[in-house]
Amino acid sequence: MQIAVVGSINTDITINVATFAKPNETVIGADNYILSQGGKGANQAAAAAASGAQVHMIAQVGDDDLGSQAIKSLKSAGVHCEHIKIADSSSTGLAAILVNQDGDNSITVAPGANNSLTPQNITAAKGIITQSDCLILQLEIPLETVEAAINLAHKNGVPTILNPAPASKKELPFLSQVDFLIPNEIEAYDMASLYGDTPKSPEEAARCLIKAGVKNIVITLGSKGCLIANAEGLLQRIKPYPVKAVDTTGAGDTFCGFLANALSQGKPLATAAEEASAAASLSVTRPQARSQLPNQAEVSEFMKQHPDR
Ligand code: RIB
Repeated sequence: MQIAVVGSINTDITINVATFAKPNETVIGADNYILSQGGKGANQAAAAAASGAQVHMIAQVGDDDLGSQAIKSLKSAGVHCEHIKIADSSSTGLAAILVNQDGDNSITVAPGANNSLTPQNITAAKGIITQSDCLILQLEIPLETVEAAINLAHKNGVPTILNPAPASKKELPFLSQVDFLIPNEIEAYDMASLYGDTPKSPEEAARCLIKAGVKNIVITLGSKGCLIANAEGLLQRIKPYPVKAVDTTGAGDTFCGFLANALSQGKPLATAAEEASAAASLSVTRPQARSQLPNQAEVSEFMKQHPDR
């Protein structure tokens, strides 16, 4: 399968903490910070490659060492990087990440070069996008660039997967061109509120977003598994896998990458969500966003070990 990913590349700086600092409070975390590769787009590209797909990334880094290291890391993950541009006047995106004792995270991103990925970059990658079996996007790059990529894919019959993270502050004019929307619970509620709803459950949020024009939706629910729904009336919970989370950073990205490859192979949404869920569960047992991504063989083995969870 060939998958195109339009999205962000960041360097992650992680500090493990006992608890998150409150506003105006200082807390001391672990002795050393960890510098690692991240960015929702890059993480999703690496995950799709780990699941066995041929992946092309359309993105932008700064003209700095962090940018060169990010490209090197993606290449070694098997991602094609010909459409990763180097911006001369901004730095590579940086994410400051805190991870607490439960493995939960709090992330703030300085987008840097991600913010100048333009619709022209999408036009330049037209051949790759239109030849792909699916296109994955997130919201860490300008909305107009996301819109240009979704329009292009939609016009050319390429299925689109949008991970609306971080949550948009305004309605997405291209929502009806999104084939699969993959928010987490918070993002699903935030998006539903943009369309005038105040859902009290993931099921209600899914119904609202389908009414707003989405064809298929998967709401990731962390340790509670996920919910799948579509415009034809499907509404089904997928059970979680029992794991002890060490670091949930990037779990949603691993989910999206594996889901995209499974869907591109023609697997039904429920099957694809089971596989993606297993991959994401394995990923939270390991530190950082993608330092030890599981591959397809590991995911299959893990699923065999947990037939009934
Ligand atoms: O989804 C996790 C990612 O969000 C991190 O790698 C960080 O870079 C931010 O983009």
